[in-house]
Parts: sequence; structure tokens; C-alpha cells
Amino acid sequence: MKVTTDKAIELIRSGDVVAIPTETVYGLAADARNPLAIEKTFRLKGRPQDNPLIIHISKTEQLYDFAADVPKAALKLAEKLWPGPLTIVLKKKVEVLDAITAGLPTVALRMPDHPAALQIIDACGPLTAPSANKSGRPSPTKPDHIVQDYGTAVAWVDGGETDIGIESTVLNLSERPFTILRPGKIGSKEISNLIQEEILTETGKQKLAASPGTRYSHYKPNATVRWLNKNEKPGDKENALYLCHTDNYTNIEMKNVVHFNGNYSQFAMTLYDLFRSADINNFREVVIEIIHDNIENTISSALLNRIEKAVLK
Ligand code: TXA
Ligand code: MG
Repeated sequence: MKVTTDKAIELIRSGDVVAIPTETVYGLAADARNPLAIEKTFRLKGRPQDNPLIIHISKTEQLYDFAADVPKAALKLAEKLWPGPLTIVLKKKVEVLDAITAGLPTVALRMPDHPAALQIIDACGPLTAPSANKSGRPSPTKPDHIVQDYGTAVAWVDGGETDIGIESTVLNLSERPFTILRPGKIGSKEISNLIQEEILTETGKQKLAASPGTRYSHYKPNATVRWLNKNEKPGDKENALYLCHTDNYTNIEMKNVVHFNGNYSQFAMTLYDLFRSADINNFREVVIEIIHDNIENTISSALLNRIEKAVLK
């Protein structure tokens, strides 16, 4: 059910859970100080208890309510990149609810860049907000997606389509070397330029030190997601939806072939909607032109990460 921001504020204050827009994807918002509301969030999502939640704040000072240690790098990044699609993991204060952090000694915080989200946080205080999908499903980038997963069980604030379409970058600043746990629109280069320190990324150590949420297969439609085979041409199979991002196949104009012509921001904005529409249109497979990791192109690296998770069985 669609609700106004005022109604959302009232619901969250009374301990309910409401889907709200952010600049990345919709989040399932609850009062970060209300254990019952947090419990309801996990129950609604069907989320494993060992996968911690991000706390969403609207003022940088609120970092000190949850983090035991706020390093200079965190303040610098907050100053330059918040509100924005960057989540920062810090050592937590003992009073942060264990249900939020899944018992970890750290807590994840972010300030979303969306007027409705900021207004609701200002009114209700910090909110936990995991992506507003059922666990394992693609994150919602528009209200229809919330209705697909929850029917009338979850109220939502209408923010139209989200701008970025994939989730925030998760950066661990709780220990050195600082490491990106989940790639997103904000990349390691931008971060290391701002704080003048090297940041580890996806490859190398990160794969081992992964964020709890990165252990699970994720972001998946019911259709099988796979990479395009070497000898296969987009459009070959009628019951597959093909997603092409280079201009290698622009000559193929078919209903089941989607082209992005190098526009990775557009690809990221629509990826989850295409996953969901593949199911609605009874496609058996989503077949994606191979993406090569490219540290210069942060959004394509983030896409690669999400698609790899969807490809996982
Ligand atoms: O863009 C986003 O971040 C969206 C919007 C709604 O803000 N939220 C989102 O939340 O994607 P969620 O719960 O779907 O993903 C949170 C990720 C998970 O991979 C989780 O494991 C990780 O953040 N995370 C949360 N707390 C953590 C912690 N203390 N240490 C390491 N990773 C953590
Ligand atoms: Mg999620």
C-alpha cells in the first residue's frame, strides 16, 4: 500500500516496517533502536540472522551514536561523499543491537541521498534499511517490485524509479588495510584519492574477508542467469532474454535482445527490473554478454559483481 512520508513516519514510530526510496534501491526501513521492528524486518525478508543490516543516518554526528571509533578517513569520506551511495563499516559501540550487527564487532552506516529518506530519518531517528526485496530476490528499484515480493503486507513511499539501481559500496574502515566488501558506484580510486590511502578491492584479500551478505547467492530472478557462450549469438534462443552492453551486437534487433551500447549507468539502473520482467514474461534464461573487470569503470565492476552472484547456483 502506498503511503505518504508523514504516514511512513507515523508507522515507523509505532514500530512498523515501511519500504522507502533511496538513491540506490528501496530499503525496508525500521527504527534502529526497536528490537521488535528489527525482528519484523528479518521475518518479512526471510533474511538469515547472520546477515547484518545497514543503519541509515541523516547527520554525520549520528556516527558517534553507533561507532566506538570514528577514524579521520570516515569523517573525510562522510564530508565528501555523504549523502551518497557509500556504506562505512566501523567498530561498533556495545549498545548497538546484536540483531542489527549479527553479533559482529562492527556496524555499517550510510547517509542516503534521497529527500524522502532523509526527511523520514530526521523525524524517526536512525533506521535500519536492508534492500526491500525478499531475501535472494533482486533488489527493488521501483514500487512494483515491492508489491511483487510483499503484496499488501508492506507499506511503501513512492519515489518512482531509483537513480542508481544497484546497492551502495560497502567499505570496511574498522581495520587496515581498508577494504571494499561490496563494490558499487563509488569506487576504490575515488576513495583512495580522498583519503590518500590504498584501498583493497574485490580481488585478493577481499574475497576471503567478504561481508556476510556476500556469502549468499543473491539478486536472482527465477530464470537462470548465465553468461553468453563463445559461439552463441544474442537472440539465438527464443525463451532467453539477452542483455548486451558493448556495441558488438548492435545489428541484432530482436524483441528478446536488449542493448546498452556502453551505457553502464543505464544498465545498472535497469538490471533488476529486467531480471524481474524476465520472470513475468516467462523467459527461462537471462543471458548476459561477458563483462570484464575494469577498475577504471566502477559501475561496470559493480554490475559484474551483482551478475556473478545471480549466476551462482
Ligand atoms: O544501497 C544500499 O546499501 C541499500 C539501501 C536500501 O540503502 N541497502 C542494502 O542493504 O543493500 P542490504 O541489507 O541488502 O545489504 C547490506 C550489506 C550486506 O551485504 C551486509 O552483509 C553488509 O551490508 N553489512 C552490513 N553490516 C555489516 C558489517 N558490520 N560488516 C560487514 N558487512 C556488513
Ligand atoms: Mg540486499
